[in-house]
Amino acid sequence: MIPREKIEEVRERADIVEVVSEYVPLKRRGRNHVGLCPFHSEKTPSFTVSEEKNIFYCFGCHTGGSAITFLMKHEGMSFPEAVRSLARRYGIHIQEEWADRRGGGGERERIYRLNQAACDFFVETLGSTPGARARHYLKKRGYDGEIASRFKLGYAPMRSDGLVVYLRDRGLDLDLAVKAGLVGKADNRYYDRFRERIIFPIIDIRGRVVGFGGRSIDAAEPKYLNSPETAVFRKSEVLYGLYQAKGAISKAGYVILVEGYFDLIALHRSGLTNSVATMGTALTPGHVRILKRYAGSVCMLFDADEAGRKAALRGLDLALSEEMPTRVVVLPDGCDPDDFLKREGRERLEEEIRGAEPIMEFFLKELKRVHDTGSADGKAAYLDEAVPRLVRIRNAASREHYVAMVASVLGVDARAVYEAMNLASSQGSTPSRILKGVLRPDGSRLAESMVLKVILRHPELYSERVKEAFALFRTPLLKEVARVVASLYEDGVTEPEKVFDRVYDEDVRGFVAETIFSDEKGFMESPERMLDDCTRKILEAGRPRRATVEMLRRLEESGHEDLVRKILGKMGPEGER
Ligand code: UTP
Ligand code: MN
Repeated sequence: MIPREKIEEVRERADIVEVVSEYVPLKRRGRNHVGLCPFHSEKTPSFTVSEEKNIFYCFGCHTGGSAITFLMKHEGMSFPEAVRSLARRYGIHIQEEWADRRGGGGERERIYRLNQAACDFFVETLGSTPGARARHYLKKRGYDGEIASRFKLGYAPMRSDGLVVYLRDRGLDLDLAVKAGLVGKADNRYYDRFRERIIFPIIDIRGRVVGFGGRSIDAAEPKYLNSPETAVFRKSEVLYGLYQAKGAISKAGYVILVEGYFDLIALHRSGLTNSVATMGTALTPGHVRILKRYAGSVCMLFDADEAGRKAALRGLDLALSEEMPTRVVVLPDGCDPDDFLKREGRERLEEEIRGAEPIMEFFLKELKRVHDTGSADGKAAYLDEAVPRLVRIRNAASREHYVAMVASVLGVDARAVYEAMNLASSQGSTPSRILKGVLRPDGSRLAESMVLKVILRHPELYSERVKEAFALFRTPLLKEVARVVASLYEDGVTEPEKVFDRVYDEDVRGFVAETIFSDEKGFMESPERMLDDCTRKILEAGRPRRATVEMLRRLEESGHEDLVRKILGKMGPEGER
């Protein structure tokens, strides 16, 4: 492991302009340098390098970070590779630190080591005599040694203490293995949690084993047993296969998303290596944000059964909130991608993928399938479900496209659909949502954005009072930026440009970059004063609002929705936006 101070030293000493210039011709513009972005194609330069902050950022594709990040992205290096390469170049001597086998390192480090040892054990066992049955199972399903080693597939034997003995022999901490979800403990005895199962190690983007999935090869229930969430395994943030797929995803520009271990491996085996899988849990915003780092769009493959359709609908809401272009392929009922490939072959699947339909279109078709749009009630129900999605389409052109589609299905004028959308966005779905809009003070957005700008440029002004104001932010994007900035500063990191190492949300990155790179000088003669004025404004507006919201929320919860509506009616309609 590279010591943390060395990483910091490399980050500081590597001259971003020098490093980038080797690959990208740069021109000076004001305080910064600009050039054509190497990470997306463009004709006018939006790729910006700040000598002062020692970072780069592209306003077109939102890629940004330090010289380390640049090398990782440009040369496909891993983090330590990039650090070492820069260290060599700048004559920084790195003495690697190896924590000793037993102690050393924090709990997370120790869990990684345990997982790695467990992974070794499972892989070894698959290749040994007791693994014969598992090898036979894999072979029967068409998986050979090459794919098994690419995914580090393993086998947990039938005995109850195979892994326990292996870990104990290596002097590893069994109580921690319990915490890591590898081992159970009963009556003071340790036992293997995974038994008689094919093992799928779950590997994070940096190549570390964070958890395991295990499929039973007899008929034992559950069919799949997964590691629990641990200090190193958050299911909402890990995608199976991403480590193996990331290069291919960047290259293809899109990612294929499926739902199971074997489906994922089947895709990779057939050459569709730009594929990842969720692992028996719903897709989350975290997943989508990670995918955004590599892919411009997603193609989801679903089974036509009810569960598949439900998952597709959840995909729609995420596609809208994360603004990720998403298409869907619905495979025949009872046929998952693994089955499909076996039955129909790769060419047919590729055809399906090429013809995949935008998820909004799929959704509208689904609505039409479940509601009888010939009847008045059916039309109303269809509209009620369509409208909340339509209002969330941010791109005006595509919104219009789908509004027209809805209008034609219902046989009404597009204006009627727009009217329904206006009504919905001004009323929201629950009284408390309406309330938020009603009570929103004008200009809050401006004050919020000023507070952030000051704080990003003057980290030393961050205080409890600012934190309090952050908590009252109303504008979703600014709220998110505030959350990120607060977590950074609370960790004692006061260089806002480090945001690029931590956050991958493009809007957040964009806001921070605009502030950091901005040339406007003297926009704050007195940052203290500006900060003070703006925080006061936010705090003052927040106090009564918080009290009222709280009161009405209670009323609403205790079943007095009608009353709440009445009160709100008196306060007058006003849009939440
Ligand atoms: P499926 O039951 O559709 O299985 O579960 P599959 O992936 O097609 O597996 P095979 O082909 O029968 O071997 C889909 C995914 O849901 C999760 C797993 O990630 C699985 O790959 N799952 C399923 C669980 O986590 N636990 C279960 O008990 C079942
Ligand atoms: Mn299957």
